[in-house]
This record gives sequence, structure tokens and C-alpha cells, in this order.
Amino acid sequence: MINRRHFFKSSALAALPMALPLLPNLAGAMPAANVPPMGKTVKFFGDGEMFEPGDYIQLLQEIHAANPITKDRYGSGGAVEALEKKFATITGKQKAVYMASGTMANQLAIAALSGEKSKVFVQDTSHVFRDEADAAQSIFNKRLVPLAPGQAYFTAAQLQEAIESLPEQEVFSTGIGAVSIENPVRRSQGQMMPIGEIEKVSSYCKSKGIKLHLDGARIYSASAWSGVPIAKYAAHFDTVYISLYKYLGASAGAILCGDKALIDGMQHLMKVHGGSMYGNWTNAAMALHRLDGVEQRMKEAKLRGEEVFVGLNKIDGIKVHLLKEGTNIYVLELSKNIDGKKLQASLNTKHNIRIGMPDKTNKVHLSVNETLLYHPASNVINSFKQSI
Ligand SMILES: Cc1ncc(COP(=O)(O)O)c(C=O)c1O
Repeated sequence: MINRRHFFKSSALAALPMALPLLPNLAGAMPAANVPPMGKTVKFFGDGEMFEPGDYIQLLQEIHAANPITKDRYGSGGAVEALEKKFATITGKQKAVYMASGTMANQLAIAALSGEKSKVFVQDTSHVFRDEADAAQSIFNKRLVPLAPGQAYFTAAQLQEAIESLPEQEVFSTGIGAVSIENPVRRSQGQMMPIGEIEKVSSYCKSKGIKLHLDGARIYSASAWSGVPIAKYAAHFDTVYISLYKYLGASAGAILCGDKALIDGMQHLMKVHGGSMYGNWTNAAMALHRLDGVEQRMKEAKLRGEEVFVGLNKIDGIKVHLLKEGTNIYVLELSKNIDGKKLQASLNTKHNIRIGMPDKTNKVHLSVNETLLYHPASNVINSFKQSI
């Protein structure tokens, strides 16, 4: 709504308020203006559409009008229960539980999987190790052991070496509680761990009786870019967390999937840690709605991105490339004679396309997400050409 309003204000159509029902036709017929359909914004950052409040409320109302939303009470019943059932099916796990945040899902899963054992192996670059305020150490009495510094992931061989060298390196054995894998990895620009390596880690862990957790906040991005189905990833892990706000449109929230016994214990842990919230249906209803077709939209966004980048790579002074083992984050390199700041401002103000500010070396990351589906590829390519 907000974008549309902005579009009306800034276009000749502002003079024609009574002609609103004709808007799509009029907009389509406008000659060389390169005005995006419905004024929706392409955002080359983030993993999906993140709604502004007005749009969020409007979409919830549409969802409610089509099929009344039922509320939960402390996560029990209503849209929350429906969402949990859907995710249990998607991941092939016995049960799923809605949680207030991904941080809580990671921490409670790791704590429950490892029980009294204190060591938990993680990627050095992982959210669990770097971005969860040392919760594992300070609240859950875990000692996180970081592997593969600076790398997106550790290999099965590195994990095995780290575990098998422990008796030489430490006198008192405290037991290995769990291994946690983030995939794809936020701090490594969305690079992913190949499924072959996950399979090796998982079979090693099984052979040693070590539990495995997946921080799959963005597992849908991994799946769209690798072609590996969500259930195939999930099958290798005891617990799987998936974010509800990165590409499912909710304003917050997480889902944790696993065995019934483990998931049944979560309501108590959530309450103890202050994360049991009275009403959660606004997030659950949105995620439930946006879950329908999300895999298809992400696949289409990937293809649209590829089409756009082929076009951009034909422009003098522009290079776009995918990172090795990358997902939806690409690197845009501009030659020195292109003013990155001006390009960014022109795309924003004249073409309704947002990119980050290029750095000192004139490079910026472009994240592909479903907002790219709002404009035809030719439109995005022309917008870059005109802005340069
Ligand atoms: C990989 C990863 N794991 C976990 C989280 C935590 O999610 P939340 O913000 O819901 O606590 C994030 C959030 O950015 C993340 O990127």
C-alpha cells in the first residue's frame, strides 16, 4: 500500500484518482517510463518479502476474509497448530513446535539433544557460535567447540579428527552432546554445505551416537539453489529449525521439528526461559499462508535472477557472479568509472529497485528473492542501463 501510494504521488496518475480501477491497463500502456507494475519494490537484499505494517495488515485481512484465522492460546490450537502440522509433514519429522525466535529454537534444541553432555561442535562462522550472545555457554552450560574458522562449513573428516583427537588433548572426558550445522551460512554470504558432506557427517554422527541439529533458518534458499528437497536435508538431522520471517513473511517466529518426545518437552522449556507467548497467530497465519507455493516462487526467483544477471553482464563495466557453493547472494562488481552511489540512488528513486551501497572497491552483494518477480527481467536490466 505504502509503495503504491508513493507510486501514485510520484506519477502522472496522481491526477487521476477516480481512474484507479484502470490502473493496471494504464500503467502497462505507459510508453518508455519503465514504471514497475503496481509500484512494487524489487529489493536486492534479504531472503524474501518483508512486509511493511500496512501491507502486513492488509494481507492478513485478505487471508482472514478467504478463510477465517483461528487464534492460539500459548501456542496451542488455531493457526499455530495448523502450521506445526504442516512443518512436521514438510520435514518428515514426528512433530513440530512454534517458537518465538530462531535463537530459542537453536538453543533449546541443542540443550535437549545433548542432555548432561557439555561439548557441542559448531561452525566457527555459525549463528549459534557468534550471534546468540553466548547463550549456550552462559545459560545452558555447554561448551561450544568451533570448527573451520573462516569457512562456511567443516567437513566430516575435520569433525572426525576434532572428536577423535580429544582423548590426547584433554584429560577429563565430558562427553559430546551434539553437533550443530547451519546451512546455508549467513556469515559466509549464504554459502552452503554440500549435501554429500552432510551425508558423511550424519553417518559419522550416527555411528558414534551423536545427535545432529540443523540451523536451517534459510533452508528453503539452500533447497532452491541446490535442488535438494527440504525433507532430504531434514532426514539427516535429529532436529531442524526453520525461520518464519526470512522468506515466509511473518514478522517473527521459528519452527522446530523433531521426534515427538523431544518436541513435547519444549513447551516447558519455553516457559522456563520466558519464551511462551500468549498469542502467536499473527505470525503463524502469515507463515502458513506464504508457505503455499514458496518453493515454486523461490525457484522462479532464482531463474529470474539468472536472467537478469546475464543481461547485466552484457553492460559495460558491470560484472555479477555467484559465490562458490552460493545460494541467493551474488556479487556485483562495478568498474571504477561507474559512480556506485549515483547508481544506487537512481535505481531507488527512479526505478523502485533497492540495492545496498557499493563499498570502497565498488562492490556490493545482490540478494535474489521473490521481490525480483515483481518486475520483468528486461525492466530490471533497463533500469540498471538507464541509471548508469
Ligand atoms: C542462521 C540463523 N540462525 C538463527 C537466527 C536467529 O533467528 P531469530 O532472529 O529468530 O532469533 C538467524 C537470524 O538472523 C540466522 O540468520
